[in-house]
Amino acid sequence: MNKAGLTDMPGQAGSTNIQGENQQKLDIYADHQFIAALKCGVECCIVASEEHEDIIRLDTDISTNAKYIVAIDPLDGSSNIDVNVPVGTIFSIYRRNSIHGPANLADVLQKGTEQVAAGYIIYGSSTMLVYTTGNGVNGFTLDPSIGEFCLSHPNMRIPAKGLIYSINEGNYVHFPQGVKDYIKYCQVEDDTTQRPYTSRYIDSMVADIHRNLIKGGIFIYPVTSSAPQGKLRLVYECNPMAFIIEQAGGRATNGFERILTLDVNNIHERSPIFIGSTDMVKAAESFMQKQYENERIGQN
Ligand code: AHG
Ligand code: MN
Ligand code: MN
Repeated sequence: MNKAGLTDMPGQAGSTNIQGENQQKLDIYADHQFIAALKCGVECCIVASEEHEDIIRLDTDISTNAKYIVAIDPLDGSSNIDVNVPVGTIFSIYRRNSIHGPANLADVLQKGTEQVAAGYIIYGSSTMLVYTTGNGVNGFTLDPSIGEFCLSHPNMRIPAKGLIYSINEGNYVHFPQGVKDYIKYCQVEDDTTQRPYTSRYIDSMVADIHRNLIKGGIFIYPVTSSAPQGKLRLVYECNPMAFIIEQAGGRATNGFERILTLDVNNIHERSPIFIGSTDMVKAAESFMQKQYENERIGQN
């Protein structure tokens, strides 16, 4: 048995729980692997991981004084592990602000605009690394025969108009009215805008956004009555994906405000997200705005 207790099928539910969500063995294994790799490097002083309540300080002599912070969702799409559907890893890199001594929590709680790099790895029919350093987005495919990621998708651009909407419609009854109205809009027949759109939802943010990045589309995880702040994590899901999609020419908001400018108050903070092709995100936002105005009128 290794550190992750990985003795049998990788996806079987473990006994642990973080932030009210079940951790699977592969979640823990991926977390161990990435932290071990970052410990061996000399560039990272703190890791904020979805799988840990608190930040992890890498406290070797060299790492303590390192310049960078890494935020990571080691394994995204855990519910798909046992059914062989693509999962991913999402990461984000910040430069620490403090200069002397160990870095602190304030170094981690930076707005998404401060990211120096962000990326994801998708473990699908091929393994791809897609990342940005703020100068466009490039995709690299793993060539297992040489163990290297090779540039296969240079300068990735998301189509401004898409035809795919991705949302867990099973939660429809719990959605805000603006989201319900946008879903209905997606389903109405209209030749000029090529509606009805196609619905695709994999239950793995990395896979849904990767497909939409290539084909065009919108991914929405709104607030729901059971998740009043949204479900997805601002630090290691929303901000890195927003940085990538903006750099590919798309748009990412919480329905009203740009994701990258939201204040970050704690590492596990959640946010609603509307992300993808610019025209689609703007259309969804207009429905949110209508809901907001209707509610305001209703209150007066
Ligand atoms: P994680 O596996 O890291 O906890 O993330 C799961 C996320 C995301 O990948 C996916 O889009 C979303 O949860 C799915 O949530 P629902 O099952 O509620 O639709
Ligand atoms: Mn995730
Ligand atoms: Mn995860």
